Amino acid sequence: MAEKFIELRGVHVRVGGKTILSDVSFYAERGEILAVIGGSGAGKTTCLRVMTGQIRPVRGEVQVAGIDAVRDREKLEHVLGYVPQLDETGLYYEFSAIRNACLFARMYGIPAREAKRRAREILEVLGFRSEELMKKPVGQLSGGERKRVSICVGLIHEPQVLLLDEPTTGLDAHLRVDVLNYLRNINRQYGVTMGIVSHDLETAEFCDRVAVLEKGHVVIFGNPKEFVRSIQAKYAFILSFEKLTDNDISKIKSLRIVTKVLPVGRRTLKVFIRKIEEPLNVLVDELEKVGLTPLSVTSSDITFTDYFRLTAMEKEEEPYFPRSH
Ligand SMILES: Nc1ncnc2c1ncn2[C@@H]1O[C@H](COP(=O)(O)OP(=O)(O)O)[C@@H](O)[C@H]1O
Ligand SMILES: [Mg+2]
Repeated sequence: MAEKFIELRGVHVRVGGKTILSDVSFYAERGEILAVIGGSGAGKTTCLRVMTGQIRPVRGEVQVAGIDAVRDREKLEHVLGYVPQLDETGLYYEFSAIRNACLFARMYGIPAREAKRRAREILEVLGFRSEELMKKPVGQLSGGERKRVSICVGLIHEPQVLLLDEPTTGLDAHLRVDVLNYLRNINRQYGVTMGIVSHDLETAEFCDRVAVLEKGHVVIFGNPKEFVRSIQAKYAFILSFEKLTDNDISKIKSLRIVTKVLPVGRRTLKVFIRKIEEPLNVLVDELEKVGLTPLSVTSSDITFTDYFRLTAMEKEEEPYFPRSH
C-alpha cells in the first residue's frame, strides 16, 4: 500500500486566542506533489509551519516522512527541505549559486566538494545550462533564476520531503510554468515528495493532489485530474456573443452535448462538451437550432481552475479567488 508521506489529520491551530486552522486534514503519498492553495490569510504558511514543527497544533496529528512532527520535531531537520517565500530566502546576493549552496550545505555538515557536486547536478536539473550562470552572483540573476537557486539550496542535504512557500509568486506567467516544470523534474529525478503552497489555482494542474484552504478550513481535497474528470467533458470552447441573456445561457445549458457552462465575461462563456465526433461543427449547429450565433469560438483546455469556478458557482457564491488574469 502506498505510504502517506505528508499528513495532517484533524489539525487545529490557535494563535493569540484566534483559530487559524480548524480541523485541517490532507495528505500526499510518497513521491507525490501536493498543492496547498488558498487566498491571502487562508492559513497556507501556517500549514507549512505545522509540517516543519515550528507551530504546534492544539489538536491533531502531523506526520512528515514517517516522523511525528509534533513529538519528534528535532528529527525533521535531516529529512525536510524548506524553500521560503522569495524575500525570505536568506541567499547571499554577492555570492554565486554554487557558493550559496555550499554555505548552506555546511550547516548540515556536508563537505564542500560533495556540496559542489550536488549543487551542480541539481542546478542542471533546474535548467542552469552554463557554468557561467552557476557562478554569477545571485544578485545579478533574474527572479526566476534566483527562485531556482533557493530551490537548489532547499535540496542540498538530499531531503525526502521538500516544502515550498509560494514558489511561483511574483513571477510572470511563463516563468511560473517553468518553475513548476522544473519542480516536476526534480520530483521525478530524486523521488522527493513535495508540498507546494500557492495562492494560484493554476499550480494544482502540476500536482498529484490539491487541498484548497478557505479561512483555515479545507474546502476541497483530492486529485486535480479526478476533479477535472467530474466535469464529464472532452472538449471546451470559449464562445463570445454580441449579446447574451440569462435565457440564452439556459438554452445553451440544456443542449444535450453540453455538460457545463461557465460564464467567463459579460458576453463570453466557456462551454464544456461531451465526447462526440466533430464537436465544433455539432456545437455551432446546435447553437443555430436554438437561434444563437456566436461571434467567435475558440478551443480551450479543461482545467482544475474550471472545476473550482464551476463548484463555486454551483454553491451560488462568488468565487473566492479573483480571476487570475
Ligand atoms: N503569529 C500570528 N499571530 C496572529 N495571527 C497570525 C499569526 N500568524 C498568522 N496569523 C493569522 O493567521 C491567518 C493565516 O495566516 P497564514 O498562514 O500566514 O496565511 P497565508 O499563508 O495563507 O496567507 C491570517 O489571518 C494571519 O493574520
Ligand atoms: Mg503565506
